Amino acid sequence: MPKKAILAFIIALVGLAVAVWFFTRGPSSQDVNSSPYIEEAKPIEESQPVQKQREISIRNVTHESVRYWIKSSASDSKAMLMTIQIGDIDRFPGDGDMDISFQRDEETISYQLDSGMPYSFRYNENDELELYEGSHGREDAPDLAPFVPTPMAVVEKMLQMANIDKNDVLYDLGCGDGRIVITAAERYGIRGVGIDIDPQRIKEANAAAKMAGVENLVKFRLQDVMTVDFSEATVLALYLLEESNELLRPLFERYLRPGTYVVSHNYPIPGWEEKEIHFASLMAEDNEEHDIYLYRR
Ligand SMILES: C[S@@+](CC[C@H](N)C(=O)[O-])C[C@H]1O[C@@H](n2cnc3c(N)ncnc32)[C@H](O)[C@@H]1O
Repeated sequence: MPKKAILAFIIALVGLAVAVWFFTRGPSSQDVNSSPYIEEAKPIEESQPVQKQREISIRNVTHESVRYWIKSSASDSKAMLMTIQIGDIDRFPGDGDMDISFQRDEETISYQLDSGMPYSFRYNENDELELYEGSHGREDAPDLAPFVPTPMAVVEKMLQMANIDKNDVLYDLGCGDGRIVITAAERYGIRGVGIDIDPQRIKEANAAAKMAGVENLVKFRLQDVMTVDFSEATVLALYLLEESNELLRPLFERYLRPGTYVVSHNYPIPGWEEKEIHFASLMAEDNEEHDIYLYRR
């Protein structure tokens, strides 16, 4: 073989080896840090751990540090005194229920906490300290509201108020079992997207969509609402706490196009008073009075 041909053959062989190494290696830390996609929000399944199975977590969503006493319900051990700072999450691994108490003015409030559940210190409607069930115990996402489904009579009224037409796309941020998105698809034949952080809710929503025969119109995504681009929405449905609506307001202003209807169950959007165009109140099947706020962005 001529010398030139042998040289060309060796160069080709080395080139092939380098190409194989390049395409089969894992990303180096430099690759990851310089990736243009590193900021992109990923669905939870791919990127973030969910709450450990039996852990009790307590989040402080108030504007003050909170002192409380906590002990295992099963033992006679002395309660531990804990102080939780604003925004922090305390975690109690283990698989038993726990007894908690805290001071509200002169009164001692006591509860039993269920194993595996998330809880949050929040203020009640009288601005007093209260402990509520939460929706998740993750550190990387706010707990916008526990799962409480909107009664069906309220769902119907919310959709009616939102002046839906067949070209609308409805988003429900914190969609729970998907009933608002699914009912909109059933009644008005429109597309809808529901976002929730709880995998159990997304499972229920997908199953319900299938049952209703609207799975071709709706999508449910397991994701933190704070990381969602919902600029496609022409109608936005909400059933989140008032402070969560306030937290989300900059995102409403970033993503929603002028003219978009926002319909919110029970809680107004602070700072959007001049955008409110309609309000209704109705008694639902749970024998409770429910408020509905309609805004136009
Ligand atoms: C009050 S429920 C409303 C359910 C549904 N929209 C309805 O009206 O029937 C609030 C929902 O928000 C979800 N949630 C709370 N924080 C969230 C977050 N950061 N991202 C996505 N969903 C969240 C909870 O899991 C819960 O299902």
